[in-house]
Amino acid sequence: MIQYDMFPLIKDILAMEPPGNNLVIRGWVRTKRDMKNLVFVEVNDGSCFNSIQCTFDGIPVPPDLSTGSAVEISGSLVFSPAQGQAVEIAAASIKVIGDAPAEEKNGIPPYPLQKKRHSLEFLREMPQLRGRTNTLAAVMRVRSRLSYAVHRFFQERGYHYLHTPVITGNDAEGAGSMFRVTTLNPSLADPGKNDYSKDFFGRETFLTVSGQLEAEAYAAALSRVYTFGPTFRAENSNTARHLAEFWMIEPETAFFRLPENMALAEDFLKYCFKTVLDECAEDMAFFDERIEKGLIGVIKSVAESAFVHITYTDAIKELEKVQNTKTFEYKPSWGCDLQSEHERFLTEELFMGPVIVTDYPKEIKAFYMKQNDDGKTVRAMDVLVPRLGEIIGGSEREENLERLEKRMTESGMNTERYSWYLDLRRYGSFPHSGFGLGFERLTQYVTGMANIRDVIPYPRAAGQLY
Ligand code: 4AD
Ligand code: MG
Repeated sequence: MIQYDMFPLIKDILAMEPPGNNLVIRGWVRTKRDMKNLVFVEVNDGSCFNSIQCTFDGIPVPPDLSTGSAVEISGSLVFSPAQGQAVEIAAASIKVIGDAPAEEKNGIPPYPLQKKRHSLEFLREMPQLRGRTNTLAAVMRVRSRLSYAVHRFFQERGYHYLHTPVITGNDAEGAGSMFRVTTLNPSLADPGKNDYSKDFFGRETFLTVSGQLEAEAYAAALSRVYTFGPTFRAENSNTARHLAEFWMIEPETAFFRLPENMALAEDFLKYCFKTVLDECAEDMAFFDERIEKGLIGVIKSVAESAFVHITYTDAIKELEKVQNTKTFEYKPSWGCDLQSEHERFLTEELFMGPVIVTDYPKEIKAFYMKQNDDGKTVRAMDVLVPRLGEIIGGSEREENLERLEKRMTESGMNTERYSWYLDLRRYGSFPHSGFGLGFERLTQYVTGMANIRDVIPYPRAAGQLY
């Protein structure tokens, strides 16, 4: 048996009680400081926020050892005599595994991440290296922990994890902003009218915008399901909260109506907030200090207070009340979608916290939402939060076959194409509800990161494939 516990992580070493002999540290050099006979090398392996200080007392260190180099250091764990860390490594030897020259060498440009601070824009141009910075590493650790929390939350509540397809023939949101998937050779395709019957699947196919419709089918089989996977939107919105490829969590619950769905969404968000506070304390302290002052306090208080509920109609009334004193770019009026300035007013000024807006006009929401008896609105729910606006979108689903079919036809959809979906209303139809949480927006919210491109390892956005 090959032993792998010979490779302790820095996180584990930092948690040990000195003295600890014959330890081996492996990671990348963050800094090196020379003081007469003493050399201090800080090594980080990304296992936790902190680096470990290795002190070389009369032990030779390669003079050109530079930031970014991969090293292996042997030594013992001792109490640190200096301030700033409880323990450190009294180093006995160092081996450079892979250097990262600070100056051009053999035609290779210098390592771009020198000790100084770099802007997030600069770092975005090098997704292959930016994970080695404090900020991006902290974001990715939090992202990983949140993913785990998502599974924990739903698994503990009787939900089954459902893998919905990435390639699909459905436009789940009926919004038309889909990426086409084809193997047709463009030069063979008739420029006027492509013959998709000759395409790989014999019909038009796309990357999914949502796994909801497929999840609904399985909610009718397993009662409680959730998806957690990549979704794709070819929207040309170049904002700090839109990506062309993002991850979405979509629970779908049999027999839930809108109130239960809202309660689940609120409970789920709070669970995620508590998870990062309890399990990512070091990284959160960094975000609170360097990215968004007061972040921890805000998340704590949000995790402990009830979300405000308001109908779309009442939200519009509130916006109309202040439109003379506030300068909105878009005039709020019943029937128009809430703009991000309206969402910000509701969450940041009026209610100062998360708000769940319900019962939107049917024209501005997707075809599958349950229609209210007023004939004008649907049982939709959007969860809005300060800074970001919409973080969750969901609804109770229309379970009545005739009403759903009528709505699809009105929306210009081909009901034959969606006959499989209508089957769910033909055979054992049932009230059910669900929602979608944008995973990057959640990560943005808890880390305070301003731009969504900095909370996913390899961002994809209109015009940008980093
Ligand atoms: O409101 P949306 O479009 O809802 C759905 O897709 C439903 N099928 C969900 C459901 O009921 N099962 O998207 C849900 C969430 C949004 O609230 C937002 O957080 C996120 O997905 N989102 C995006 N995140 C990043 N970039 C984009 N382009 C996004 N579009 C939506
Ligand atoms: Mg939405």
